[in-house]
Amino acid sequence: MNKTKRILCLALVLMLAFSFAACSSKTADEPTAAPTVAPETTAPETDAPPPVDEGKRVGISMPTQSLQRWNQDGDYLKQEFEAAGHTVDLQYGGDNDVPTQVAQVDQMVADGCDVIVIAAIDGSSLSAPLAAAKAAGITIISYDRLLLNSDAVDYYATFNNVKVGTLQGTYIENALDLKNAEGPFNIEFFAGDPGDSNAGYFFQGAIDVLKPYLDSGVLVCPSGGTEFSQAATADWNSANAQSRMENIISQNSYAPSGGTKLDAVMCSNDSTAFGVETALVAAGWTKDTMPIVTGQDCDKANVINMKAGLQSMSVFKDTRTLAARVVTMVTAILEGAAVETTTTYPNGTMDVPTFECDPGVVTVDGDSALGYQSVQVALLDSGYYSEADITG
Ligand code: GAL
Repeated sequence: MNKTKRILCLALVLMLAFSFAACSSKTADEPTAAPTVAPETTAPETDAPPPVDEGKRVGISMPTQSLQRWNQDGDYLKQEFEAAGHTVDLQYGGDNDVPTQVAQVDQMVADGCDVIVIAAIDGSSLSAPLAAAKAAGITIISYDRLLLNSDAVDYYATFNNVKVGTLQGTYIENALDLKNAEGPFNIEFFAGDPGDSNAGYFFQGAIDVLKPYLDSGVLVCPSGGTEFSQAATADWNSANAQSRMENIISQNSYAPSGGTKLDAVMCSNDSTAFGVETALVAAGWTKDTMPIVTGQDCDKANVINMKAGLQSMSVFKDTRTLAARVVTMVTAILEGAAVETTTTYPNGTMDVPTFECDPGVVTVDGDSALGYQSVQVALLDSGYYSEADITG
């Protein structure tokens, strides 16, 4: 090794020692984290992403791969951002594992992402990495679910979350003809995960429609679970919903015939609906005796259940629309153009400028008078699913 090489090596060793010391002294909530990728000319060989010559670096943090919709959201977002010329780092938070998601967003900040799109597992859990992102000038987009208690959220792209619940409540109101019928009809409620602020909006939308009927006695909830806290389903998990439904069946002597009649189950989404349907089928309900069951997302397994007569409806949120909206938003931000929004959502710290997409009801056959689309039109003709996707 000649003298020049030795000097260069020494310089490199000192530089690495310095940068490791700098990294190890950083704490998770230090709000000054700047991109730690070394300049191209001096960087040693690492796993760090290559510098982006064209386009920007976009981090996408999705909550879980265990529910179908987030895989689709991740895929569409990646596809759309790549088509727009950006480099994408797509990560899933294990199976709804908050520390994993926090670490992934931290890493995206450290990797020097220009934009990070996040659907949080728990909306309140990301304040520290978001503060670091803000300090580093990274644009943060809250995706579908609102990021809470942070002033670092640039925009929120979602569906009208209250309307999702209103559509579910109104579906039950129409199906049982609550405006005219005397009842009483028995109903049970299954809401979503308490860490997801959407869950509260969905439940609110549904209960606002149904509460007058609960108050007048046309609707009765034998289990007494009409509060969000009583109806919540941790992690939106089907197995949790299933075991709660099993308990409700036995404690209230519900039966498909010869017991307490179950008329409706308001489920906030498809994963909770699936657990409820599994419990009911195991306890003897069939397509002829099933109560009205609502859902949301048009997950493949639930569309199959709808076709089998085991679920009444699902609120359709076309994830292609949401992904495209996010790319439109980010393009406007990067170009310094005006970003189109429709409303704001309070996140505990700020009012987040928001674009709300419009959800709709899908049933097997549709009903144009009530504004319901059929599976054929909404899901097959639009190319959202193939026939094979929704064949049991
Ligand atoms: C919500 C989302 C729903 C549903 C649920 C469970 O935040 O808006 O579409 O997927 O999470 O993942």
